[in-house]
Amino acid sequence: MGRVEGKVALVTGGAVGLGAAHTRTLHSEGAKVVITDLNEIDGQALADELGDDALFVAQNVVDEAGWQNVMAATVDRFGRLDVLVNNAGVVLPGSVEDVSYDDWKKIMTVNVDGTFLGCKYAVGQMKKNGGGSIINISSAAGLSASADLAAYNTSKAAVAMLTKSVALHAGQFGIRCNSVHPGTVMTPMVEAFVNLAPDPDAAVEDMRVNHALQRLGEPQDIANTILFLASDESSFATGGEYRIDGGLAL
Ligand SMILES: NC(=O)c1ccc[n+]([C@@H]2O[C@H](COP(=O)([O-])OP(=O)(O)OC[C@H]3O[C@@H](n4cnc5c(N)ncnc54)[C@H](O)[C@@H]3O)[C@@H](O)[C@H]2O)c1
Repeated sequence: MGRVEGKVALVTGGAVGLGAAHTRTLHSEGAKVVITDLNEIDGQALADELGDDALFVAQNVVDEAGWQNVMAATVDRFGRLDVLVNNAGVVLPGSVEDVSYDDWKKIMTVNVDGTFLGCKYAVGQMKKNGGGSIINISSAAGLSASADLAAYNTSKAAVAMLTKSVALHAGQFGIRCNSVHPGTVMTPMVEAFVNLAPDPDAAVEDMRVNHALQRLGEPQDIANTILFLASDESSFATGGEYRIDGGLAL
């Protein structure tokens, strides 16, 4: 029996990177999975690979009507929603002086508004089955600041506070809500970020030594905590900040 056997889990931004790892892990432990993403090619390929217990739905998490469509598609295919992983996110570098207002708004809209909409529609849906688990992906960068991440820091700190408000509201319905704060894991997002640096290898080495454990994370390091929070093993855990960062944000 898998640790999330029979649960229906939706992972936004699930086509590649950490979202794909979360999706694979939940599926391997018995969940039916709904993958959503802007990236239709990789999202559909992952769903095809996982088979009948996986569904891909194209989604932009900042589109409210799209959330209604995703909820309807989930219930239509699998009958319920037990777990939402609000994973879709974007990062762009920039100090408060350097970051453009357009980039600020893009980061805040995807990371904060997208997570807000996910929580809003998931609570409405999960109430119908008497409970569920919402997992919001923040970051170590939501716990400690960097001079060149003004927008990303702010957006991920907002995700952590939204998580606590959702937990306080949704607990009465048996719905839990926690935030996860990963350290640096090499994904398409981090590769693109590193490649903006004048010396990408030096940038990766800087990232590595900033972790107390002196290594970057692996996708499975983060997925293990997602699995715990999705499962009934965490049934008394809500409103928490799960720092899975190798000691980055201390
Ligand atoms: N990789 C890390 O080191 C790290 C560390 C801390 C937190 N995080 C967070 O983890 C999450 C996943 O990061 P990742 O590194 O796997 O990123 P990634 O860029 O590799 O993958 C993110 C996925 O989200 C999708 N996406 C982006 N905007 C979207 C939107 N508006 N609607 C729907 N889908 C959208 C992308 O198409 C992509 O498939 C993000 O929230 C990120 O901020 C990552």
